[in-house]
Amino acid sequence: MERKAHEKHISVLLEELTQSIEIFNNKKNTIVDCTLWMWGHAEVIISKMNPWDVFIGFDADKRNIVQAQERLENIWEDVEKIFVLSNFVSLRDELDARWIKDITGIYYDLWLSSLHLDEAERWFSFRYDGPLDMRFDASKWITAAFVLNNYRREQLIQILQDYGEEPMTQKIVWAICDARKKKKFETTSELNDLILNNSSIPKSNTRVFQALRIEVNAELENLRISLRDAIDLLDKDGNIFVISFHSLEDRIVKQTLKRETRDCICTDIICSCWHKKSLKIINKKPIIPSPEEVEKNPRSRSAKARHAKKI
Ligand SMILES: C[S@@+](CC[C@H](N)C(=O)[O-])C[C@H]1O[C@@H](n2cnc3c(N)ncnc32)[C@H](O)[C@@H]1O
Repeated sequence: MERKAHEKHISVLLEELTQSIEIFNNKKNTIVDCTLWMWGHAEVIISKMNPWDVFIGFDADKRNIVQAQERLENIWEDVEKIFVLSNFVSLRDELDARWIKDITGIYYDLWLSSLHLDEAERWFSFRYDGPLDMRFDASKWITAAFVLNNYRREQLIQILQDYGEEPMTQKIVWAICDARKKKKFETTSELNDLILNNSSIPKSNTRVFQALRIEVNAELENLRISLRDAIDLLDKDGNIFVISFHSLEDRIVKQTLKRETRDCICTDIICSCWHKKSLKIINKKPIIPSPEEVEKNPRSRSAKARHAKKI
């Protein structure tokens, strides 16, 4: 299973991310990879670190963190490695608990792993039949089936519009609410069939599945919280590099980074927020994959990275 997944996985924007890694020789460096598995980025980061620097890898998925640990703990053994099974929303708590502050670099790669899309347990994709689950973290109780079967109509409409930008939202949600009166949703194919029967435009299933996944995992809110904490925890000259794959995530990354480049974030005539700028944006425009990368790895085509530095 591991070998198969690894063969398929290609880390996105690897070269560009590598260029952003900065290791300081006059201090102990601490670098955090918030989305560790399948460790392509992590390997490059660790390979650049000095002995006795600290590498911290987060992953919300238990199996993924175990595989990453097995793979990484015996390479470049002088670098201390800490593996954290946790959603990156808990970045601050997890680092506080280990007395870690002053991060030198922090990395996010927000694409779902290929295995998540292919595997038989927690289905994220309409392409295969399976339970309507979609949790990254199997210990959390809210599943896609729960959302579909229990959320009010207005809530479903908002989710499909906000997180999926789905033009056929109204029709699909009415159909969901009718269908669940007769039988509760259980499988991805039940939802997929319903979408196909109620939408005449392409890719409605992609957008609806995406919207549900975002809701189930509170992805956007968690990202916003984690980024703010990450910026706060960065040491002077520390780098933050975030790869995202859809416009909703990119907007949050862009806005959160930009907010920290301003001395005032309130709208009062005389500033009352006392906010101080703490970041410098390195790339004014998002970093995107080269045509060669897209050709080699078509999934990278929607990737956008943003890089900023603590001042
Ligand atoms: C695209 S993979 C990372 C690939 C990796 N950067 C590489 O180069 O091989 C994304 C990983 O992040 C994890 N993940 C997604 N959202 C997360 C979150 N909110 N907190 C922690 N881990 C998360 C997933 O479980 C998955 O293992």
